[in-house]
Amino acid sequence: MYTKIQETAIWLKERMPSSPETAIILGTGLGHLAERIVPEMAIPYSTIPNFPVSTVEGHSGQLIFGKLGGKDIMAMQGRFHYYEGYSMKEVTFPIRVMNELGIKTLFVSNAAGGTNPSFRIGDIMIITDHINYMPENPLHGPNIPPGPRFPDMSEAYDPELIQLAKTIGAELDIKLKRGVYLATQGPTYETPSEYRMFAHWGADAVGMSTVPEVIVARHCGIRCFGLSIITDLGVNGKIVKVTHEDVQKAASEAQPRMASIMEEMIRRS
Ligand code: HPA
Repeated sequence: MYTKIQETAIWLKERMPSSPETAIILGTGLGHLAERIVPEMAIPYSTIPNFPVSTVEGHSGQLIFGKLGGKDIMAMQGRFHYYEGYSMKEVTFPIRVMNELGIKTLFVSNAAGGTNPSFRIGDIMIITDHINYMPENPLHGPNIPPGPRFPDMSEAYDPELIQLAKTIGAELDIKLKRGVYLATQGPTYETPSEYRMFAHWGADAVGMSTVPEVIVARHCGIRCFGLSIITDLGVNGKIVKVTHEDVQKAASEAQPRMASIMEEMIRRS
């Protein structure tokens, strides 16, 4: 495993136009952010040695290197979801590679169903913590040093970055909620009883991504910051049928706000 990570990192280092310390996973809601990147190089995942092979033809994604908020950044346009059939090792392989490349801070975004009754569709939530309800921990198996065998998760999401987001939200007059993100394996959305259970457990939002990447990033000592767009509500009395199209529509409405926060975060972090 470690040999493959190094092999991929060496391959990328020979081609990268810069040595960024900031990485972004352009999840749902951050398509707009991609347009604000001044691109220097884009490398399709399909050409990168050892990168997971896409399950959907034509949607393989790419690594973008360029400038955003005045900083050198690398961005994953397209991520690997567990529900697509990837193993946890595959889902988190790019994070291991980022670490080898010298990434120090990771920004992530996702779409999520709100289980907090005070949330509205279109809200943006700063992820303050997570609950890993996926069937496997990405660190299952032999430990990859120098990360510890039993990594601390008391501050999975960087408190200073959370504070910075609050400041930027106030300055830009963009309302930001805060809450706990719970990750399921998907691909089903929740039954009303599942939403209720997750809310009882302390979740404010539910989604199908992000947690594996953040666990591995923390194992590597990378600082993490995440935003969720609340695209539907898993709240008693407000539950309606959810489709992927509804989720995409709510997410795209929130995109410009999301992109502004992220760009400013990157500039100042
Ligand atoms: N549940 C799980 N994942 C999601 C949801 C949801 O309600 N909305 C967007 N992604």
